[in-house]
Amino acid sequence: MRLDKYLADLQMGTRSQVKDFIKKGMITVNGETITKADFKINENSDCVTCKGKTLAYQKYRYFLLHKPEGVITATKDNHDKTVMDLLPKELSSDFFPVGRLDKDTEGFLLITNDGELSHRLLSPKKHVAKTYYVECNGIMTPEKRQALEQGVDIGDEKKTLPAKVEIIKTEENTYVIELTITEGRFHQVKRMIQAISGEVTYLKRLSMGGLSLGKSLTKGDYRELTSEEVDILKRN
Ligand code: URA
Repeated sequence: MRLDKYLADLQMGTRSQVKDFIKKGMITVNGETITKADFKINENSDCVTCKGKTLAYQKYRYFLLHKPEGVITATKDNHDKTVMDLLPKELSSDFFPVGRLDKDTEGFLLITNDGELSHRLLSPKKHVAKTYYVECNGIMTPEKRQALEQGVDIGDEKKTLPAKVEIIKTEENTYVIELTITEGRFHQVKRMIQAISGEVTYLKRLSMGGLSLGKSLTKGDYRELTSEEVDILKRN
């Protein structure tokens, strides 16, 4: 990571303020004064000081992974590759995925060591919105759409909460929708589609809690969230 970005991420000042600190020789990396803003540091292992004070490592970090199909959402598994195998090894064992995507589901998956935020995003009381792109076998009708929007019986004690449905495409015996739900029940999307006599053939999570997967990450890739993006998640 660039030294100026590291300092700005640690809230040491704006990007131009921290560049000024660097130019003025106020920053050392592993004991050496660094005067180049684009100097690359390893934020996990390098010792950075500002005006003689050692900077704390970021306590919490947040990664967005584009989960591919075929890997399981767990921290460890004896048989299958897990989502944690796709992140750098140096991330200590206290990182974990926020919520769960099925082995055959792709898309937006947050990985963090911030238990409190994770708890908040998954709390049934918070109704955090999650949008899925869903390809299905079956026939979509106005009645079925309305059923999904109002809540369907998926065999649990209570019907699902109202959902948003955007129809992307309908063909003879297949359809594609974007479905936004505010709960996280086990296999919820697949069971909702089953409840209207359909079958999910492809499932991808597009967004969660106001953040979208976007187009920049290919399957299996990850990136660290910006502090602005973390703030968006924390507003949930
Ligand atoms: N709903 C499902 O059925 N599967 C997922 O992976 C996520 C939501």
